[in-house]
Amino acid sequence: MSTGDFKDASLAAKGKQRIDWAARDMPVLKLIRDRFAKEKPLAGIRIAGCLHITTETANLAITLKAGGADLVLCASNPLSTQDDVSAALNLIEGIPTYAIKGEDTETYYRHLHAALDHRPQLTVDDGCDLVNTLHKERSDLLPEIIGGMEETTTGVVRLHNMVRDGALKYPVLAVNDSETKHFFDNRYGTGQSTLDAIIRSTNLLFAGRTVVVAGYGWCGKGVSSRARGLGANVIVTEVNPVAAIEAVMDGFRVMPLIEAAPLGDIFITVTGDLHVIDRHHLERMKDGAVVANSGHFNDEINIGALEDLSVGHATARDFVEGYAMRDGRTIYLLAEGRLVNLSAAEGHPASVMDMSFANQALGAEYMLQNAKNFSPQVLTLPKEIDQEIARLKLKSMGIAIDTLTEEQRRYLNDWQSGT
Ligand code: ADE
Repeated sequence: MSTGDFKDASLAAKGKQRIDWAARDMPVLKLIRDRFAKEKPLAGIRIAGCLHITTETANLAITLKAGGADLVLCASNPLSTQDDVSAALNLIEGIPTYAIKGEDTETYYRHLHAALDHRPQLTVDDGCDLVNTLHKERSDLLPEIIGGMEETTTGVVRLHNMVRDGALKYPVLAVNDSETKHFFDNRYGTGQSTLDAIIRSTNLLFAGRTVVVAGYGWCGKGVSSRARGLGANVIVTEVNPVAAIEAVMDGFRVMPLIEAAPLGDIFITVTGDLHVIDRHHLERMKDGAVVANSGHFNDEINIGALEDLSVGHATARDFVEGYAMRDGRTIYLLAEGRLVNLSAAEGHPASVMDMSFANQALGAEYMLQNAKNFSPQVLTLPKEIDQEIARLKLKSMGIAIDTLTEEQRRYLNDWQSGT
């Protein structure tokens, strides 16, 4: 059995235990896996997945393999890998996985290239690094590519930029844009896992503290509401006027980040943009301020400026680095500014990843069936698939809902009746 690159074989049994634990909370994916095992819709298709290597991703990978796929994985972030899962995937599940927590940038890209060496026909990406590398450095692989799927907002933004520049050479499904993905994963998943990570790493009390959340997209909404739920005073910062009104009407204080900087005890970026916390913000923060990012890339906090403003840094706890500022303050950076929820905790809980990865699995099948009709573009999954995932999720929760009567259906399709 050929394997990928992982840290420690002795972790495999523990990884397998945790993969099975996550499976208990992924009933929709389980239904898909059972059908895939019978129908083999992905038979012989070579897939490269660049994903966070977690217990939930392992369950997706097992599902794709059950469908007949010939699959390899690599990490989509240097710090998000769960080493026990990477070992279990390699040694127990027979899925070559190139992922080591804390790998350096050179290793990260070596692992991406190793996954591309598999000559994928389908790509499954989280953040668009695989698609990007494939287009820029491995374009010889393009003729064999059928299509791809992208998991996250940041990746979808990059894909649209590629389309605008005429750079994208094959169709990609924006899994993120399914309602059963972003309504739940981005909001409840990021909301819970981000706070989980900050609490695990710092053990700080949220109640009574001022938490500044930069960005009020789906992730920002989740983080803000969960921080409020723990008793924090939450300030939201935004650049989008509509999102800002939404935050105001949801009951949050809204102000420019420069005004929030001296007020915040904990800062969380979830914007998908560059240097959202910049030098002038860092200069105004309180002594002891904690700064974390839960967006995809580690560039939302200007770490270069933080280093520049400090005389040195020291580890306070795992994933907590205290920067000694020239003026005597200390600012604590969590998880090197990488996505804190996956670096200092375990990412989103399985129950929401169930729907996200149901979209990935059904997306792979849908792409194979329909790619011949697609030009290189960014697509969404059909509404019927999205709705079916929601129906199955409700069923697994034991929740029934109403259905339209024939009369109501006719009414909704009519335009003639009025007052
Ligand atoms: N993205 C956020 N949480 C995740 C998880 N648990 N597994 C894979 N990708 C994720």
